Order: sequence, then C-alpha cells, then structure tokens
Amino acid sequence: MYPWYDYQRRLSPLKLAVFIALFVPGLWTAAAFAIGALEPRPLTAAIHHIGLWTIRFIIIALAITPLKAILSWPRLILVRRMVGVAACAYVLIHFSLYVTDEAFNLATVAHEILVRIYLTIGFTALVGLCVLAATSTDGMVRRLGRRWQQLHRLVYPIALLALIHYFMQSKLDVWEPTIFFGIYGWLMGYRLLAARFAVRGWLPLYWVAALGPVAAALTALGEAAYFHLAFHAPLLRVVAADFSLQTGVRPAVVVLALGLAVALAGAVRAVTMPAPKGRTRFARLPASQPPA
Ligand code: HEM
Repeated sequence: MYPWYDYQRRLSPLKLAVFIALFVPGLWTAAAFAIGALEPRPLTAAIHHIGLWTIRFIIIALAITPLKAILSWPRLILVRRMVGVAACAYVLIHFSLYVTDEAFNLATVAHEILVRIYLTIGFTALVGLCVLAATSTDGMVRRLGRRWQQLHRLVYPIALLALIHYFMQSKLDVWEPTIFFGIYGWLMGYRLLAARFAVRGWLPLYWVAALGPVAAALTALGEAAYFHLAFHAPLLRVVAADFSLQTGVRPAVVVLALGLAVALAGAVRAVTMPAPKGRTRFARLPASQPPA
C-alpha cells in the first residue's frame, strides 16, 4: 500500500502532504551541497543540517500523540509512523555523511565511535531508531502483539540519547538544543500526567495549561545549571536572564510560549467543536480529547 493511503485505502491529503514535506530538508541540503551553497565545509554543513532534521523529526513524532488528543484530531496518528521512519532515514544519511567525511575509513569511524562519548551516544540512538523503524510495519505490529508497544516505548530513551548527542556537540551555542530539551520535558510530562489523570484518554486542559510553565521553569533551571557547571556563571543570574528578554528570546521563553499556545489551541478546539449528542458543550470543556 502506498504511504499516502489511509487504512481504508483512500488517498489521505494529510499523509500525502507530510510524505512530500519529509523529503524537503534532505532535497534542500542536497541542492545546496550541489550548487556550493554549503561552503566552506560542505560535508560538515550537510552533516549538521541532516542531524538537525533528524532530531526535529524525532521530536515531531513524539508530539503527535499529545497533539492528536489536545487538538481532537485523531487522523494525525496516520502520519506518526511516517515521521518516525523519516527520522531513521535521516540519521542513516547523517551517519553516511560522517563516514564519507572520514574518507570511508571504517576502522577510524569505529574507533571514533568508541572513544568519543557524544558519538557513542549518537550511535546508540541510531541503532535504537533502526530497530524501531524495522519493527514498524503492520506485519511486525501484528506479530509482536503487546510486546510491540513495550518495544516502541524505547523511543523515549532513544530521543533522550539523541538530545544528549546534539547538546554535547553544540559546545557554546546551546540555544536550540536547550529548547528541544524543554519540549522533550513537556512531552514526557504530558505522558506522565495522561497516565495518571486522563479519563478515557482525555487529559483535562488545565493540566495541559499548567505543563507549559513547569516545562519552561525546568528549561530555565537546566540552562542555568549547565552554564553554572560549564562556565561557573552564577545560577540566579542565568535564571533571571532566562525570563527577561534583554538577552534575546531565551529557550525557557520559547518553551513557555509553545506550551501555552498548545493549551490555547486545545481550548479553542474544545469550544468550537460540536458537542456529542446528549451532552452539553461545557461537559466537554475540561477535556483535551474527544471520544474517537
Ligand atoms: C539519532 C541519532 C542522531 C541524531 C539525532 C543526531 C543529531 C545531530 C545533530 C542535531 C547535530 C548538530 C547539528 C548542528 O548543530 O547544527 C549532530 C552533529 C554531529 N553528529 Fe549526529 N546525530 C545522531 C547520530 C550520530 C551518529 C551515529 C554519528 C556518527 C557516528 C553522528 C555524528 C555527528 C557529527 C560528526 C556531528 C558534527 C559534530 C561537529 O561538527 O563537531 N551523529 N548530530
């Protein structure tokens, strides 16, 4: 079955659009490489571009389940596997570019992976993503049964390893990796809350609204701890800078804005959605997911 068909074998515009979009960063990087726009170190730049999109796809794949629930958009789940498989394809390209950069010297590559801890961590994440992609077919889902879900929960530690790899190689410029850590915290927080407080898959929207500030505070603390440990910057000064806009938009502010935007979108969706038969609109208001 083509990837742009849904389970009823009908063309899904959503799947088709996402399928095409997943190729764009790779094609853009290839084109920029071909026309010399990635100079002075095109291979290194390509490694970075593709690595960035790998981590972005991992985070997007993790965001699909919460967004599906909060936005009452069940069909979003149709694209989760596609995005996850794309993350795996991108990391394989990222790795191949690295091997090319090492002049295909596999002994050096293996040695580097063993001695450079950020590469060891990245490689572990790569192996994990490949296992998840290889077991993501309908046949494997059927064959593995309940064990499939247990296996695919590995995506959470895999994403964490991928983030650590990203953070470690970023050295001084940790703005974007810190944002990704904050979003990851939000996504994990959502799952913990949903496991505890969701009723028939519905997590009340006030929990979603509270999660943004909590994830932002953790992001600020994490950033302050990093600058304190790595550069001996005073903890409180970094935390204060995190929430003032004087030093630009800090990661904690981005995480806060995203968290609140998702909660707001969920509220708008809850108000505008037609109420199910026999229930008032207000009965659904606190919930973030309607019955399927
Ligand atoms: C899921 C696994 C992985 C993810 C998500 C990932 C992601 C990333 C990201 C986001 C960057 C930085 C991009 C930037 O700052 O612009 C990066 C850099 C890099 N990654 Fe990975 N990566 C993964 C696995 C690997 C593996 C397996 C290798 C090689 C064994 C590798 C080698 C590199 C190298 C050499 C750099 C550039 C470091 C530098 O320029 O100092 N990565 N990766």
